Amino acid sequence: MSDQNNNIIEMNNVGIRYDQGPEILSDIKLSLAQGSFHFLTGQSGAGKTSLLSLMYLAQKPSRGQISVFNHNINFTNRDQLASLRRHIGVVFQDFRLIEHLSAFDNVALPLRVSGMDEREIRKRVTELLTWVELDAHMSDKTSTLSGGEKQRVAIARAVINRPDLLLADEPTGNVDNIIAGKLMKLFVELNKLGTTVVIATHSDKIINDFPYPRLHLQNRGLHIYYPADTSVLRGINV
Ligand SMILES: Nc1ncnc2c1ncn2[C@@H]1O[C@H](COP(=O)(O)OP(=O)(O)OP(=O)(O)O)[C@@H](O)[C@H]1O
Ligand SMILES: [Mg+2]
Repeated sequence: MSDQNNNIIEMNNVGIRYDQGPEILSDIKLSLAQGSFHFLTGQSGAGKTSLLSLMYLAQKPSRGQISVFNHNINFTNRDQLASLRRHIGVVFQDFRLIEHLSAFDNVALPLRVSGMDEREIRKRVTELLTWVELDAHMSDKTSTLSGGEKQRVAIARAVINRPDLLLADEPTGNVDNIIAGKLMKLFVELNKLGTTVVIATHSDKIINDFPYPRLHLQNRGLHIYYPADTSVLRGINV
């Protein structure tokens, strides 16, 4: 356990490498406050998915300290990791849906794991899948869906139980601008309800349309950029 504070994630001197290869990220220092919203950018191969995988506790760093929900993950056992993961919603870059199950059953999964009443599950899942414009495909096996449809199922599954932390890896990469805007609205609403959000994206349009700080990976390091309008506001307030 690290000292209690309001940061959902803290990283210090974190390095990531695969096998015996060179570090792909070095000396990462990062604090994500509870309730914050950040974009994560960097060119293809910069390490966005790798950094997110540390945040959703899929791997440990090759060096350095990470705490998630105030638990130092270097000293957290498998059961504790599993219980922390239940507070994290993840939209994987490659979706990772259960292909032989319907869209409905994929989205219902986190609620069933939590033991929710089946009637309540039906109501919530139907409402959310309708909102992401998949009402006509609720019973379809996800293996038969288009890329953009799969992406929306993956997003619905990640947000259905209002996670404390939402990590989304290129969540609008397969949809048109109108649907992308709608999905961003979903993330913004979730954030207003208290969810801390990190979204990896290559979309300049999305970054420009929403005034959130940007974590940018470059040359194995992490740089933070604040949107121009916020710095103007801060300048006025000084
Ligand atoms: N499981 C792995 N084993 C070995 N190398 C890996 C593994 N996963 C990622 N890498 C390497 O780490 C580097 C960063 O990859 P990562 O997927 O994190 O980048 P990214 O910023 O998400 O890229 P993209 O924008 O293309 O999704 C790449 O050079 C990649 O080849
Ligand atoms: Mg990636």
